[in-house]
Amino acid sequence: MVTPDKDMNNTSTAYPKLAVEFCGIPMKNPIVAASGTFGFGLEYAGYLDLSHDVGAISVKGLTPEPRHGNKGTRIAETASGVLNCIGLENPGAETFVRDTLPVLKTYDVPILANISSADVDGYGYMAETLSVDGIAGFEVNISCPNVKNGGMAFGVQAESAAEVCRMVKAHTDLPVIMKLSPNVTNIVEIAKAVEDAGADGISMINTLLGMAIDVRTRRPILGNLYGGLSGPAVKPVALRLVHQVAQAVSIPIMGMGGIMTGTDAVEFMLAGADIVSVGTATMVDPTAIARIAKEMNEYAEAEELTHISDIVGGLRI
Ligand SMILES: Cc1cc2nc3c(=O)[nH]c(=O)nc-3n(C[C@H](O)[C@H](O)[C@H](O)COP(=O)(O)O)c2cc1C
Repeated sequence: MVTPDKDMNNTSTAYPKLAVEFCGIPMKNPIVAASGTFGFGLEYAGYLDLSHDVGAISVKGLTPEPRHGNKGTRIAETASGVLNCIGLENPGAETFVRDTLPVLKTYDVPILANISSADVDGYGYMAETLSVDGIAGFEVNISCPNVKNGGMAFGVQAESAAEVCRMVKAHTDLPVIMKLSPNVTNIVEIAKAVEDAGADGISMINTLLGMAIDVRTRRPILGNLYGGLSGPAVKPVALRLVHQVAQAVSIPIMGMGGIMTGTDAVEFMLAGADIVSVGTATMVDPTAIARIAKEMNEYAEAEELTHISDIVGGLRI
């Protein structure tokens, strides 16, 4: 792990036109480091000034108990994207709070706890355990399997998605952002259900289910057979889904899926996202978030915007 460089701590706002508030959380820019591609943030402290360059950090998905993740190959490169089946490897919520959060909270950047559980009660436990000093809000991953419902992901049915949302809301006063799965028939129905259940915001999209095959061995490349697709390949799908959800709900949206440049981020905001999140891009370039912020600011200047938020939902049809 890279040792954090305390001299990089800096509370100034580099781009005043990019400073935003999302679900009551003040951010220096509208870019959240996506869950699962940014570790716990500290891993990137040698590449970025966490207190300055990053709007917020959604930490690697946490679960009630430590998890080793899936066996076998966990990452496969695809045309314009990445397939992963990490299997939520993490040290568990309590270890994170005890060992990692004390270091992480010395940086001046909001931390979102990305949480998952195999059952609904576990989400309540996660919300309670992580409602501590240093956590600014929750990003609730509902793309994981519900063991009490034959392994079907919570996020594929409106009722189970809403049930998880109500459980988390009942156990925290912090903002609750529900992270939607794109692997559904009607994402708008699920977005409305979590809004009705009290969600403060929505983040979308999680990865699209896919697979890769090795023709020589005739076996699947990923140890878990299927994996989640992310990166530029998913961007058009993510944009369409963000646009559809933005028409249907009044809570704010964090848009993501294949954002590699400032232009990509602006497209998501025009489609209706209030802020964005960047994942796979940081696997290609660990400084991607700082570059994307700079490019967004250049766009704001070139378009003579008072503030980057002026373009949210500004798609002309
Ligand atoms: C290696 C990897 C691990 C991920 N782990 C998580 C996770 O733990 N929790 C979660 O909600 N999303 C997870 N995601 C999904 C990302 O946060 C994001 O929603 C998705 O990758 C789309 O954005 P991108 O194309 O910018 O990567 C993961 C993605 C990747 C590539």
